[in-house]
Amino acid sequence: MKLKTIKEGDIKLKVPVNEELTKKMSVFYNPEMKFDRDISELIISILKPKKICDCLAASGARGLRYKSVLKDSEVVLNDQNPKTAEVMKKNAELNNLEVRIENKDANKLLFENLFDFIDLDPFGSPIYFLDSAAKSIRNKGIVALTATDTAPLCGTSPLTCLRRYGIRSLKTDFYKELGLRIFISSAMKIFSRYDMAFTPIFSYCRRHYFRIFGRVTRGCKRADLLLEQFDYISYCQKCGFHKTGLIDKCDNCGNKLNLIGKIFTGNFASPEFCVKLEKESSKKFDYLSDFINQIRAEQDYFMYYDIHKICKWNGKQIKKKKFLLENLEGSKTHFLDTGIRTNKEFSEILKVFD
Ligand SMILES: C[S@@+](CC[C@H](N)C(=O)[O-])C[C@H]1O[C@@H](n2cnc3c(N)ncnc32)[C@H](O)[C@@H]1O
Ligand SMILES: [Zn+2]
Repeated sequence: MKLKTIKEGDIKLKVPVNEELTKKMSVFYNPEMKFDRDISELIISILKPKKICDCLAASGARGLRYKSVLKDSEVVLNDQNPKTAEVMKKNAELNNLEVRIENKDANKLLFENLFDFIDLDPFGSPIYFLDSAAKSIRNKGIVALTATDTAPLCGTSPLTCLRRYGIRSLKTDFYKELGLRIFISSAMKIFSRYDMAFTPIFSYCRRHYFRIFGRVTRGCKRADLLLEQFDYISYCQKCGFHKTGLIDKCDNCGNKLNLIGKIFTGNFASPEFCVKLEKESSKKFDYLSDFINQIRAEQDYFMYYDIHKICKWNGKQIKKKKFLLENLEGSKTHFLDTGIRTNKEFSEILKVFD
């Protein structure tokens, strides 16, 4: 395996050279995920967890960045691919960082250890690791999850979604937010089996992946409080009308509504945590400030509308976003450029286009 040295954040990394970016890379490294590793580093800097596990570490990019900002914390880098151990070791030495390197199945490692921060960044879905994460996470610890299986999460493969995440999904105009919420809901349900609450402190969708950071707290009451915020969404696939709850017919066009859910309808990020995160980003990764502020603003609304689709389905002419945001007292969304968040009734939304 031929390696080249690159720089990311405050560290240097040896990564494979001349290899196509696929799962088959000898040691996986995707420069595109720097955005996510930057956010994760900021979160680590705020929370200062004592014992961290980068469970699916590949080159060690993530875990080494964590260690570089939290020198006193214990960091474990693990990956079951034997080729990664050699590269992780080289990368730790290159940066003079002391970390523990493991070469195990992540489930096994999690069963054998307790951590305050568990990062699971797999190919596809992290759902297969969540039972062991529940055994391994200390009370009030953070579990950070990435999912790249967008087809089941976004409504393109509803049967896979039902099998993998246990939630009914559909094709909708708000598919990216639906995907994120299905992912969060499924994680919440798994932790709740162990009387633990998995509360999202920060989550988002970007390009081909979803990312959630959840604080895990023990207690039936806390877990129940989250489950109480689950509901169905009744959705009209003809005009784009949606409402929470079990509703039979579309208020707008009379079509029979389809059911999604049940999913978590609460905040997918904590507004208070977003304020801290934005402050931290302004010190180090200024380019993330707008993104973080946007996520905070989005918590005042549930499910965006894709204005282009809504106009097309209802025979309306699109209007300027600025005009729509003012008239719908709404917000933009990080999920989609043509998306708008508003608490107005669907009939009022359509009126704005007249
Ligand atoms: C998407 S890559 C990780 C990328 C890395 N976190 C980063 O930010 O650069 C997923 C890694 O998970 C590893 N992996 C897959 N299944 C595993 C398992 N059951 N236990 C441990 N490692 C596993 C693969 O070898 C691969 O290196
Ligand atoms: Zn309708």
